[in-house]
Amino acid sequence: MQLTMIGTGYVGLVSGVCFSDFGHDVICVDKMPEKITALENGEIPIYEPGLDELLARNVAAERLSFTLDLATAVAQADAVFIGVGTPTRRGDGHADLTYVYDAAREIARALNGYTVVVTKSTVPVGTNREIERIIREENPDADFDVASNPEFLREGAAIEDFMRPDRVVVGVESDRATDVMAKIYRPLALREAPIVYTDLESAEMIKYAANAFLATKITFINEIAALCEKVGADVKSVSKGMGMDARIGNKFLHAGPGYGGSCFPKDTKALARIGQEHAAPIQIVEAVIDINEATKRRMIDKVMQLCDDSVNGKKIAVLGVTFKPNTDDMRDSPSLTIVPALVGAGANVHVVDPQGLKEGEALLPGVTWQDDPYKAMRNAEAVILLTEWNEFRALDLERVVKVMKDPRMADLRNVYDPKDAEEAGLTYVSVGR
Ligand code: UDX
Repeated sequence: MQLTMIGTGYVGLVSGVCFSDFGHDVICVDKMPEKITALENGEIPIYEPGLDELLARNVAAERLSFTLDLATAVAQADAVFIGVGTPTRRGDGHADLTYVYDAAREIARALNGYTVVVTKSTVPVGTNREIERIIREENPDADFDVASNPEFLREGAAIEDFMRPDRVVVGVESDRATDVMAKIYRPLALREAPIVYTDLESAEMIKYAANAFLATKITFINEIAALCEKVGADVKSVSKGMGMDARIGNKFLHAGPGYGGSCFPKDTKALARIGQEHAAPIQIVEAVIDINEATKRRMIDKVMQLCDDSVNGKKIAVLGVTFKPNTDDMRDSPSLTIVPALVGAGANVHVVDPQGLKEGEALLPGVTWQDDPYKAMRNAEAVILLTEWNEFRALDLERVVKVMKDPRMADLRNVYDPKDAEEAGLTYVSVGR
């Protein structure tokens, strides 16, 4: 198949590269010349393990190319994927669809022969119908169908998620378009990945419902963790015991400092807005959004308590600031709430993160960046483990105690065993234990 991917952000780039690895011919389009030039030189604007090799391999095989020329790329395509951003609109929590609709208009003018226009971006229910209307209005003679094909890629594991998905969701309403989509995903069907064919609205809803459910699951365990602290239970045991029930499952039950990232915060807010607009409010998700904010703030209180209610003038080491490990993404990271609060309270914050500097430098003013955890902890009066990068999972706790001025640790990802930490000489707090 000849595929065109509009947008070389996270979703567009990972999907485009993986489709080319299936054996399709893929052209990735972006509006930013510097992005296209960088990609042509094999430089990847995001940190995603394995993506650089996969990209190089498929460029070398001449199945993958990059261009600024949307019209030519669309004219050749059997299917055009829209993978542009849908950020939260300022002020009202809605998904901003400007980029999606602009792309639809441009695509409409360039269509040539039967083409399926597929939305990969996360878009509110009804958007695909609107895309269809826009294309029809812009080019009444166009021979096309629309399809909704939401992505479920986790940053840091995106290639694995693309190649071995739990399921592929395709919203499509004509046999011709179903046929094209089936051909595109044939390599996954051969590997017995389930493909769910449904209507456009259901496909759009599946994406929001799945993400909101996962965000709810995390938030549920975060609230249970807060209660565990009061009653003397251990949330790790509680998660384990709950998760063994196959109806619940053990994934996304790790208590922590609150969820962040490019999807959960944005998608929960968008779903809440959609519900309000249709007079069918999703109150559970509205609560999740508020509780997640409160969870992040609760972490600040935890650190303050650990530091005898004052961090003023104290050196504090922060291990990890990206919203999760194996990404350089800082979007809605809990660190963006916690670190500024500490800096604001007069702490001298030293940060170390394997990939966080590039994006984090501008977002976390007033901190000192270090390249080694022990350097960051030297003479510190507290250390906060905020993102569970592998580098921070096997610290030599005795060495930690030795280098610190006052050995106190807030382990906000429950990486260490409280007993080990205390035996090493740390004053130790974690989440829900
Ligand atoms: C998520 C979804 O998993 C993916 O399917 C979707 O399409 C995009 O959004 P991503 O944002 O990359 O992926 O990260 P994910 O691994 O889901 O983690 C999201 C946040 O939840 C992180 O801040 C993570 O630290 C937090 N989290 C996750 C927890 O606090 N506890 C958990 O048990 C799991």
